[in-house]
Amino acid sequence: MTQDELKALVGKAAIDYVEEGSIVGVGTGSTVNFFIDELATIKHKIQGAVSSSEASTKRLKSHGIEVFELNDVDRIPVYVDGADESNHLLELIKGGGGALTREKIIAAVAEKFVCIADESKLVRRLGEFPLPVEVIPMARSYVAREIVKLGGDPVYRSGFTTDNGNVILDVHSLEINEPIKLERILNNIVGVVTNGLFADRAADVLLLGKADSVETLT
Ligand code: 5RP
Repeated sequence: MTQDELKALVGKAAIDYVEEGSIVGVGTGSTVNFFIDELATIKHKIQGAVSSSEASTKRLKSHGIEVFELNDVDRIPVYVDGADESNHLLELIKGGGGALTREKIIAAVAEKFVCIADESKLVRRLGEFPLPVEVIPMARSYVAREIVKLGGDPVYRSGFTTDNGNVILDVHSLEINEPIKLERILNNIVGVVTNGLFADRAADVLLLGKADSVETLT
C-alpha cells in the first residue's frame, strides 16, 4: 500500500468515532484531508465542525460542512488530527503544517483526541522530526537563543506565516527524554505561542495505518 492509501484507511476508520448530531473537531494536514472527505459522506448526521486551520476550513466548506467558531461551541466530543511523530504513550510531535496552536486549543477542549497516522509516524523516542515552535515575530531571535541554551538547533521556517500571523522555528537536535517537561519549559519562554509537543494533552487513541489493517493504540 502507498502512504496515501494508508492515510485514506485511517481517515475512514476515524469516522467510527464521530458522534451523531455532534460538532466534530478537525485537525490539519494530508491525513486529515482524507478524514474530511470521509466526513462529507456523513455530513447529514453531524451538526458541523470546528476547524484548526484556514486550509481545513476551506476543505470542509467545499464539502458543504458548516464550520463553527470555537467560542460558540460548548462541547466537542471528538477531535481528529494527524501527527508528525507519536511514541507509544501517544505523546506527539505536531506542527509540520504550522497549525499547531489552533490544533492544541481544539485538542484541549475535546473530550477525546483521535490521532490518525500511517505506521511510519510511530517512533520509539520523539525528536527525529524537528519540533515546530510558533513564535511572536518580534521575539524570534530571543526565543532562538533560549532554545540553543536548551541544546536545540532552531531553524527559521523562512517565508511561512501561521494563520495567527506568527513565525515558526523548527528545532533540530533536541533530546526529548521527558516530553511533558520539555513542552512546559518551551511554552514558558517569553514570545513562544506554543510548541508542537502534544504530551501534556496526548492523544487518547492512535489509529495507525498498516499494510493490511488499522491498528488501534490507546
Ligand atoms: C499540521 C500537523 C499535521 O497533523 C502533521 O504535520 C501531519 O501532517 P500529515 O498528515 O500531512 O503527515 O500537525 O500542523
